[in-house]
Amino acid sequence: MAVGIFDSGLGGLTVLDAVSKAMPEVPFVYYGDNSHAPYGVRDADDVYNLTTAAVERLWDEGCDLVILACNTASAAALRRMQEAWIPSDKRVLGVFVPLIEALTERQWGDNSPPREVAVEHVALFATPATVRSRAFQRELAFRAIGVDVEAQACGGLVDAIEEGDMILAEALVRSHVDALKRKMPDPQAAILGCTHYPLMQGVFQDALGADVKVYSQADLVAASLEDYLKRHPTMIGSGQTSTFLTTGDPKKVSDHATQFLRREIVFNAA
Ligand code: DGL
Repeated sequence: MAVGIFDSGLGGLTVLDAVSKAMPEVPFVYYGDNSHAPYGVRDADDVYNLTTAAVERLWDEGCDLVILACNTASAAALRRMQEAWIPSDKRVLGVFVPLIEALTERQWGDNSPPREVAVEHVALFATPATVRSRAFQRELAFRAIGVDVEAQACGGLVDAIEEGDMILAEALVRSHVDALKRKMPDPQAAILGCTHYPLMQGVFQDALGADVKVYSQADLVAASLEDYLKRHPTMIGSGQTSTFLTTGDPKKVSDHATQFLRREIVFNAA
């Protein structure tokens, strides 16, 4: 039994870490498409083609359920995949909905009409492709009214994190927060809408100020997945072992992953 976790690169390790801590008995197969990262600057067709190829590879590993731990893929490809591509015995789930349910204080599967919620001014930090898709605003509009969302496309940040250049990454976070604040001076909440960004969560919080509530996905996705697997236990596929796969250079990716998670991670070629 195994569940697949997909990301364009290393950022999904934040989700992998949270789900493995929450469900130590479940084997997870992680697939990082590092040779094609960043996805955030690609067009929707490109993201769709890369994401479907990766998901097929995870099905081959015995993962009937795959989590797209990548906001860009969730925003630009998931709906198209769910409409016409996924066979009936497989599931592919994204990372947007758990975050929006937390922001709008809804329970899983609450399909009641949109209503007013506690927050009115929300800052969204995400990749250029996620911002362009407007998927976050669309999902939010199904659940909440009267929420003003200002989105900041954080160009360059994923590349800096993938390269392990944390000095550049910190400078970029601070300049993107400044740019956001020029458009929305007093956000009440900030969404880290890219799986790479929790690796910089402390810098985001510092630049935004202590009174801004920063939402990051990893724990929310873990709680949501745990709940899903209780309700759909057969979706844990036939795979037996936890593995890390990459389309990039396994040695380089393993070194960066070990640095990020502060424990030894060994990637194999996908
Ligand atoms: N980590 C992915 C996300 O959550 C994509 C980053 C990228 O490849 O640009 O959006």
